[in-house]
Formats: sequence, C-alpha cells, structure tokens
Amino acid sequence: MKITVIGSGYVGLVSGICFAKIGHEVVCVDKDNSKISKLNSGVIPIYEPGLKEVLDEVVAAKKISFSTNLKAALQNSPAVFIAVGTPQDEDGSADLSYVLAAAKEIAELADSYKLIITKSTVPAGTGAKIKKLISATSPDLDFAVASNPEFLREGAALDDFLNPDRIVIGVEDKKSQQILAEIYAKFPTEKLVVSDIITAELIKYASNSFLAAKISFINEMADLCEIIGGDIKKLSKAIGLDSRIGEKFLNPGPGFGGSCFPKDIMAILNVAKENKVELSLINSVITSNSQRKIRMSEKISQALGGEVRGKKIALLGLAFKANTDDIRYSPAIVIAAELAKKGAEIFATDPEAIENSKRELVEFKNVHFVSDAYKASTDADLIVIATEWQTYRELDFSKISCRKIVDLRNLFEAEKMAELGFEYSFIGKKN
Ligand code: UDX
Repeated sequence: MKITVIGSGYVGLVSGICFAKIGHEVVCVDKDNSKISKLNSGVIPIYEPGLKEVLDEVVAAKKISFSTNLKAALQNSPAVFIAVGTPQDEDGSADLSYVLAAAKEIAELADSYKLIITKSTVPAGTGAKIKKLISATSPDLDFAVASNPEFLREGAALDDFLNPDRIVIGVEDKKSQQILAEIYAKFPTEKLVVSDIITAELIKYASNSFLAAKISFINEMADLCEIIGGDIKKLSKAIGLDSRIGEKFLNPGPGFGGSCFPKDIMAILNVAKENKVELSLINSVITSNSQRKIRMSEKISQALGGEVRGKKIALLGLAFKANTDDIRYSPAIVIAAELAKKGAEIFATDPEAIENSKRELVEFKNVHFVSDAYKASTDADLIVIATEWQTYRELDFSKISCRKIVDLRNLFEAEKMAELGFEYSFIGKKN
C-alpha cells in the first residue's frame, strides 16, 4: 500500500522507514527543506542506532522517498500518518497546532478517500477534533480518522517498531480497521489491539504515565535505602521477579527525561484537570521527578564536602539516556546548570549529545565540553556519571587518577570500586 507519513522527526522517520521495510511504498513529507534534502542524499538527521542501514536498504529497493510536496505524496495514498511534533504548551497541555495544521492541509489537498491516522502522541479527544476540522475544511471529502500511537524508545526505536509488544489501533469503522490490518499484515494478528479512537489515545498516555510512575517508585525506594540502608540493586531485582511487577524500568537513576515522559504526564494531567478529574498519583510523580534532578546536584555537592565553587567536576553523559543524542529534559543538563550556577568548573562529555548540549548550556562559561571521559577526568576533583553509556561501563580505571566518583546510574559494584581505591557514591547508598 502507498503510505504517506507527515513529519520526519524521531517518530515519523523511524515509522516511515519501517513501513517501507515491511513492504509498503512510503513517502515521508516534511516542511523542512534541509531535512528532506539530507534524507534524499541518505543522511539521517537524528542519532538512532541501525536506522541508516535500513534507510539505505529501502532506498535501494525504491520503497521510500522524501518530499516537501504533500499534494503529490497524497496521490494514490489511502493511508496518511500524522507524525508531527506535539510540544508542551506553557500550561503543560499538548500543543496540537502542528497536528491540526497537517490535518487541514490534508483536507485541502486530498482528492480521494483518506484514512488520517495520528501516530504522534495526542490527548484523548484529538481524533474528534481532527474529524471536525477536516469535515469543515472539505465537506465533500470521503475520509475517516484513526489513532495508531507509537511505543518507540529512542535508541531502540527500530526494534520496538519491528518487534512490538502490541500494535494499538483506534478506529471508527470497519474499513479503517481493514486498512490498518493490511498495513500491519506482516505482524502476528494477536499483536493487534483494536479499540475506539479515544481509548487508543488514552492507552499511549496511560502506558507512559505508568512507566514514569514505576521509575519514580524505584527512585524513591533508593532514597529510602540511602537513609536506612538496604541494597537497592537486590531490592529492585527481587521485586522485579514478581511477574505482576516485572523487572524492566526498575533501574534507579537521576530522574526520567526525554521527549515523552515529562511531556506526556503533564498532558494527561491537563486533560484530567480540564475534566475535573484528580490524578493525584500522576501529580506526585511529576513533583517527585522534577525535585529529584535538583537533589542530584545537592548529592554531588555533598560528595565535595558541601562546596563546589572552583572545584573541577567531570560530567560523564549529557543525553537523557544512553544510545541517543537527545537532551530534552535530561537530568544531566539540569545538573550541569545547577553546578555551574554554584561556581564549579564542569568538564562535560558524551558520545553523541555534545552538540545538542552546547546550545542548551551556552550561557555558562564554566561549562566546558571535551571529547571523552579520560580528558574530562584529568585533574578532576570529582567524576559524575549521569548517562549509562556502554563506553562508561567499560572505563579503564587505571587511566583515571581522580578517586571520587558519584555514579547516578549505578554502573559499577561498590565493593569492586572500593578495592580499586575509589570513594564511590551511587544511587541508594547509605550515606
Ligand atoms: C519512552 C517510552 O519508553 C516509549 O514507549 C514511548 O514511545 C516514548 O517514551 P523514551 O523516552 O525514548 O521512550 O525513553 P525510555 O527508554 O522509556 O526512558 C525514559 C526515561 O526513563 C529516561 O530518562 C531513562 O533514563 C529513564 N529510565 C528508564 C530510568 O531512569 N530507569 C529505568 O529503569 C528506565
């Protein structure tokens, strides 16, 4: 089937390339000329492991093209995915302006049946807004709307798309369901979860909110261990062995970041508030997580005896997690800014996220960027590990003279670090 994907960002690009890989003919459309020309010359504008290889494969098979011309893309394409950004508005609600603009443009340009499918994360009720807008724009257009939320983790997006736990489709009629079933025909039918549109939109928010709550829970258990003792790694493993809990997303850290969790929990809270529904648990997750990032800089300051002014701190990791260049809501960025404000000299490094971080931390003259962990650690008073990159798990400690480490990702065994002569502080260690 010919598929149009509007928006060539993290979600649209991975989805378009994967739709092509499973055999569809895909046109990815974006308004950003430079992004489209880069993609047409085989350059991927984001860091996503393995994506370039699949792009080359589907380009060679002539299964995908990139264009700024939506009208041409829509020709003979019954399925149109909206995968544009839904950034957070000042009040925490999801900004739907890009989604609605895309819907309007489809209505203005389409001259045959269209199934308009939101792939972007959108608040419950957006499908109805899109339907109303398209009907008002083009009363004679034969169309339907649907929801097909993505569950792609940055850094693991290809695997998440090609080996999904489930494929959620929210539809309003049988024809829409048949089209989406055909799009996903390569996957086992039991993976398909069919619902109405609002339920599909809510499933996405509920999934992310639950995962965010699970992370905040283990982070708070780590806080308890820091005060009363207890081994957070053993605690996490033991509760995760309960099949009702599950072992994933129980790694304590500096707080969750990324382009989804922080935005999505604010958005679901907003929808609830608009409808006078109290989501007290979600509220406390937001508070717990945002305070945590600030508290991490206090933990670091304590490791230096309470005074960071003039101290040299090596910050290993800037991305919000490993295997991405994305620094949106990254705890490491918050920590760098907090320590810089207190007068520390920060020497920051990250395998992929330095360029993105430079823009974010440009106001701080005492934040310096260096190419690797060993350079950052030279003459440092303290080393902070903020992102769980594999390269930091493989550090050669014989090359590191600084003896103080604050590990916010619990990458190492405390006993081993003590044997190596390090003053090793980690998440969940009793002070
Ligand atoms: C998330 C969802 O996982 C994905 O399904 C959705 O489509 C988009 O949002 P992503 O934001 O890429 O994906 O990152 P994820 O791997 O979920 O991690 C989110 C945050 O939680 C990161 O800051 C990560 O460091 C943190 N995290 C994750 C923990 O602190 N502990 C964990 O055990 C897991």
